[in-house]
Amino acid sequence: SALVQSERLAAMGQTIATLSHHVKNILQGIRGGSYLIEAGLKSDDTDAVRKGWGIVDRNQDRISNLVMDMLTFSKEREPELVKADLNETVRDVVELMQSRAKELNVLLGQHLDESIPEAKFDQDGMHRAILNLVTNAIDASSAMANRDDHSGDGDSGDDSASEDTESNPQQAKVFVSTSYDALDGWIIDVVDNGPGVAEEDRDKIFSMFESRKGMRGTGLGLPVSAKIMREHGGAIEVRDGEHGSGICFRLKLPTGISPSSDLSAFDTFV
Ligand SMILES: Nc1ncnc2c1ncn2[C@@H]1O[C@H](COP(=O)(O)OP(=O)(O)OP(=O)(O)O)[C@@H](O)[C@H]1O
Ligand SMILES: [Mg+2]
Repeated sequence: SALVQSERLAAMGQTIATLSHHVKNILQGIRGGSYLIEAGLKSDDTDAVRKGWGIVDRNQDRISNLVMDMLTFSKEREPELVKADLNETVRDVVELMQSRAKELNVLLGQHLDESIPEAKFDQDGMHRAILNLVTNAIDASSAMANRDDHSGDGDSGDDSASEDTESNPQQAKVFVSTSYDALDGWIIDVVDNGPGVAEEDRDKIFSMFESRKGMRGTGLGLPVSAKIMREHGGAIEVRDGEHGSGICFRLKLPTGISPSSDLSAFDTFV
């Protein structure tokens, strides 16, 4: 009907406005970085060039993540299930995020159960689902460890405060672990020691564009990860962190996802 049609258009307009806003911010970041590089080149100031490049590089990552998240969300697609080692995907993500973690003084590690059987999953999809959680965990734990310095909080577009974090009251930590049992299937836990998520917010954070990171967050990461897990017949669970601090995001990949006859389920074990 006309009403539904106009509501849909309104929702679409809202989505486009939100996305444009984020793209604009990222472009501003790139412009700022480029400006630094240009000025640095003119005056032979390698430090300025390096700093400028850091900003450009980070914003490049942001825009590429934004586009990948948008793509994941925009199409209804069947995951391309391939038999592979989940640990491998986790290792890739951890390696990819290691430099970002170091920059923010976050200890990023992994506890992988090497005896888990091969799983059937969409490799790009799972990579993205895990990456979004690890990115959030790094953000959260580093925000916690650096919480005495609220100087550049929010809207500056670039996140400075990378070097002067020696006086951490607490080491920021993110750990990714894998495990398997025949009943629940594969489990990937992403645990951090950040501020955690209040009980009443644990559903809300999975809504699109729900973000507490000011201009730095789009609020697509969790809904995208959740969608990917749903497409796998799995889910994301939010659990209390270890030792009463932080939070754990658990990805659950069930055993019975493939159009699996008993034979192919059996196949996984041999
Ligand atoms: N590990 C975590 N600890 C504490 N809060 C979290 C954690 N992960 C997510 N959140 C909260 O949930 C919100 C939504 O997360 P989500 O990944 O969907 O969006 P975002 O990180 O803000 O932006 P984007 O991922 O699109 O860049 C975050 O803004 C944050 O407030
Ligand atoms: Mg996120």
